[in-house]
Amino acid sequence: MTVKLFSPYSIKGVTLKNRIVMSPMCMYSSHNEDGRVENWHRAHYTSRAVGQVGLIIVEATAVTPQGRISPQDLGIWSDAHVEGFHELVGLVKEHGAKIGIQLAHAGRKAVLEGEIIAPSAIAFNEKSKTPKEMTKAEIEETVEAFKKGAERAKKAGFDVIELHGAHGYLLNEFLSPLSNKRTDEYGGTAENRYRILREVINAIKMVWEGPLFVRVSANDYHEDGLTPEDYITFAKWMKEQGVDLIDVSSGAVVPAHINVYPGYQVSYSETIKHEAGIDTGAVGLITSPIQAEEILQNDRADLIFLARELLRDPYWPRTAAKELGVEIEAPKQYERGWL
Ligand SMILES: Cc1cc2nc3c(=O)[nH]c(=O)nc-3n(C[C@H](O)[C@H](O)[C@H](O)COP(=O)(O)O)c2cc1C
Repeated sequence: MTVKLFSPYSIKGVTLKNRIVMSPMCMYSSHNEDGRVENWHRAHYTSRAVGQVGLIIVEATAVTPQGRISPQDLGIWSDAHVEGFHELVGLVKEHGAKIGIQLAHAGRKAVLEGEIIAPSAIAFNEKSKTPKEMTKAEIEETVEAFKKGAERAKKAGFDVIELHGAHGYLLNEFLSPLSNKRTDEYGGTAENRYRILREVINAIKMVWEGPLFVRVSANDYHEDGLTPEDYITFAKWMKEQGVDLIDVSSGAVVPAHINVYPGYQVSYSETIKHEAGIDTGAVGLITSPIQAEEILQNDRADLIFLARELLRDPYWPRTAAKELGVEIEAPKQYERGWL
């Protein structure tokens, strides 16, 4: 039996050496509050490349300053950001990993000075700022900002672009009827709530030919919110638009109780993969190699996204290879200690 976790995965001319993906994780480490790559990012991402992760997705990176979750977020809203990312991309690729970037706008979940924007003027919770309802001009500017971000990501040499459409950030806020109460063409029906994402995908497609992933929150965990069934429809639309893979997360559009357990989001990935006929990534409390292999063997996802486990063990691919009885190449400097 072939161990799937270590089989390559090809998409639009990009081949990942294995199915292990470093899930995007905010590091809040742009200490000058200018969105730039710093030494922390260089060390953090490169060490997972040395650890033989197949694809590294750089944390939520803001397409506008107002779209940051915090002042210390990475940003890609200016041409001045390209150089730092170009260097980071080079460092990661030197060790045989592919690298993607998650383009993001925080919407009403931005914790920043000044005005924050969202589809509707509804605060996330009682501690959050009330956002301003976006005008159509602001929607247009935001779509353009995603496009510019993609252009810059391309210049920096990224292999993959992932759109952050999950966890209650801006694009997710438009998709969910819980956070989108608009009465114009950007609110109401599913088509209307999807409109901004449709426009962002189309805009990116004009400047980006490479693999495009979208992260979604496939369950709002609320009786009036979205369910995996709703996301089958959205995923079909994304597929028609040329999105290559849906990275299936859940929750965080409104405060809700979530019953978490190992692999608790995997069934959403499975549903979307089979019902919409599109490749998916599974994420969320996946920690053991055997668990990851089960997901792939049973065709419940195409890629395995790991977040916290890769914080604990940057060499997790080595750990997994040993456990699954596969020999993987070591960085030559580590050969004497790898087996
Ligand atoms: C420190 C940290 C930062 C995170 N930042 C992001 C982010 O920038 N974008 C995103 O989509 N998810 C983010 N997440 C969520 C993870 O990508 C992942 O979906 C979640 O942690 C569940 O996976 P795990 O159980 O393997 O940690 C973050 C998680 C952590 C722990």
